[in-house]
Amino acid sequence: MSKLRIENVVSGYGGMDVLHKLSLEVQEGKIVTLLGPNGSGKTTVLRTIFGILAPKEGKVFYKGEDITALPPEKVARLGMSYVPQEENIFAALTVQENLEMGAFTREDDIRPRMEEVFELFPDLTDRRKSRAGDLSGGMRQMLAIGRALMLNPEMLLLDEPSTGLAPFLVEQIFERIQTLNKQGVTVFLVEQNAQALRCADRAYILEGGEKRAEGTAQELMNDEEIGKHYLGR
Ligand SMILES: Nc1ncnc2c1ncn2[C@@H]1O[C@H](COP(=O)(O)OP(=O)(O)OP(=O)(O)O)[C@@H](O)[C@H]1O
Ligand SMILES: [Mg+2]
Repeated sequence: MSKLRIENVVSGYGGMDVLHKLSLEVQEGKIVTLLGPNGSGKTTVLRTIFGILAPKEGKVFYKGEDITALPPEKVARLGMSYVPQEENIFAALTVQENLEMGAFTREDDIRPRMEEVFELFPDLTDRRKSRAGDLSGGMRQMLAIGRALMLNPEMLLLDEPSTGLAPFLVEQIFERIQTLNKQGVTVFLVEQNAQALRCADRAYILEGGEKRAEGTAQELMNDEEIGKHYLGR
């Protein structure tokens, strides 16, 4: 079943179209990755899905409902969380305060959820009272994801969580994403790092705002042409 679907989306900035009639789908319960080089339009796809950018043409459907250009706070209320590529934590606040901010629209007791987030990211537990700005890059990414999880989302949009991380941390972050997925969260993972294929079920390759390939992660990993052109082999 499709959790998220975009159809023939044209989107961009001012007079410039970045996405050219792009269609993609994320199935319920899966991890789908969107791989593409710098400037190919990956972030623009996420902004359009989350209602930060209104597409000029095309539609966005979430759980069968037309959410095209629905504002971000309303999309969030439908159970989708977005971890942006940059400025995804409050550097001046502590780890715990960041998690509290992530749940600020919740009126019930957020402590049990916070403990679940700490269970998923145990390294953060010892740093509860540390300023987020003092954390390492890897911990900051974990915190950014943790914040997004505070609302108990059904679906997570992640924009290049592996950027700037050492290889072992990249592996760790993809493992955590898999754990989350096993807990029932559907994931749309935008990446430049082809390692993302290892944790994904399906994948798309984006270039110049157009879909260049799609298939199971395994199919794309095994495809020699794709490996050469897009995965740096
Ligand atoms: N706010 C903006 N205003 C104008 N043009 C923009 C804006 N944001 C992005 N662009 C342009 O849109 C195109 C796609 O950008 P986008 O950020 O979606 O790419 P990306 O695939 O996320 O790249 P990266 O891997 O560097 O994050 C680029 O040509 C970029 O310069
Ligand atoms: Mg980007």
